[in-house]
Amino acid sequence: MSAYLPEFPWDTLADAKKRAAAHPDGIVDLSVGTPVDPVAPLIQEALTSAAAAPGYPATAGTPLLRQSAVAALARRYGITGLADSAVLPVIGSKEFIAWLPTLLGLGAADVVVVPELAYPTYDVGVRLAGAQVLRADSLTQVGPQAPALLYLNSPSNPTGRVLGVDHLRKVVGWARQRGVVVASDECYLGLAWDAQPLSVLHPAVCDGDHTGLLAVHSLSKTSSLAGYRAGFVAGDGALVAELLAVRKHAGMMVPTPVQAAMVAALDDDDHEKQQRERYAQRRAALLPALRSTGFVVDYSEAGLYFWATRGEGCHDTVRWLAERGILVAPGAFYGPGGGQHVRVALTATDERIAAAVARLR
Ligand SMILES: Cc1ncc(COP(=O)(O)O)c(C=O)c1O
Repeated sequence: MSAYLPEFPWDTLADAKKRAAAHPDGIVDLSVGTPVDPVAPLIQEALTSAAAAPGYPATAGTPLLRQSAVAALARRYGITGLADSAVLPVIGSKEFIAWLPTLLGLGAADVVVVPELAYPTYDVGVRLAGAQVLRADSLTQVGPQAPALLYLNSPSNPTGRVLGVDHLRKVVGWARQRGVVVASDECYLGLAWDAQPLSVLHPAVCDGDHTGLLAVHSLSKTSSLAGYRAGFVAGDGALVAELLAVRKHAGMMVPTPVQAAMVAALDDDDHEKQQRERYAQRRAALLPALRSTGFVVDYSEAGLYFWATRGEGCHDTVRWLAERGILVAPGAFYGPGGGQHVRVALTATDERIAAAVARLR
């Protein structure tokens, strides 16, 4: 099966990593985008106090978790009209994305549209299902065919691009006419800087009708919970019920202590604001440093990454930065259009970001 999948991209960065690690002041790793800040104490306490959990968890999640997710989506992102039963916890959103085409029963005859520059797991999920992938950012590129599934990702990984309300409305209207399921990966929705991203479930986008829409959310970045594997999907109640029915059989359950931790994280906005502020400060430090050394930063209006170019091949830029002890991801990881960019993550400690700034200056 692994032969049908691309090479695991991070394995190809080993040489650059070695070079960056040789810097006398150590590596600044801005490649993978894994959170480094402490898990908020109230979340850790919720996890440990739910540790006595001998029985199986419900695949659907506890009623409390579903309520907390609905309330957090309303409070934080203005999503209204969502029933508790239209929410389903997942074992991190990567798991969900990798298996969504399979869980929807897609196969060789089905086309799945993913953004031209995209998180690689969309493509992986399509391959696992044996379906066909089409990279397209505009509906004209899709043509008259009706794909089975279309991914949106705003704010985007890797570009930090935010899609405007008109763009989102157009996609939703188009998908409705053709019966296409829209999966909107919204794991960076809470990390907005220069533009205001909207959920696909926001009434300004979908007019309050969630039919055919799935919003995929993650607590990994906004609450620094990547190690807990905590996400959820929300949207079309009938689709969520179908996914639940299959996931029950497949044992795709979120552990009970993690569900309790998710409730604590979703009920508390303070730690989330604090995390956003940390990233805002790192962004404010790193952006001028990149520009001062000749980088052009495109998009990057929201999310956790700078999409940056020196107008040369991305592997040359990766090497140039590695010689300064800074490791970043080559844009080519994310699609053929990324060959002249690198993705620079904000996920390093303040001390490591300061080291990167000093090296760039
Ligand atoms: C666009 C996007 N979607 C999903 C994920 C997966 O997040 P998780 O599995 O931690 O929820 C990531 C992680 O980097 C991502 O960038």
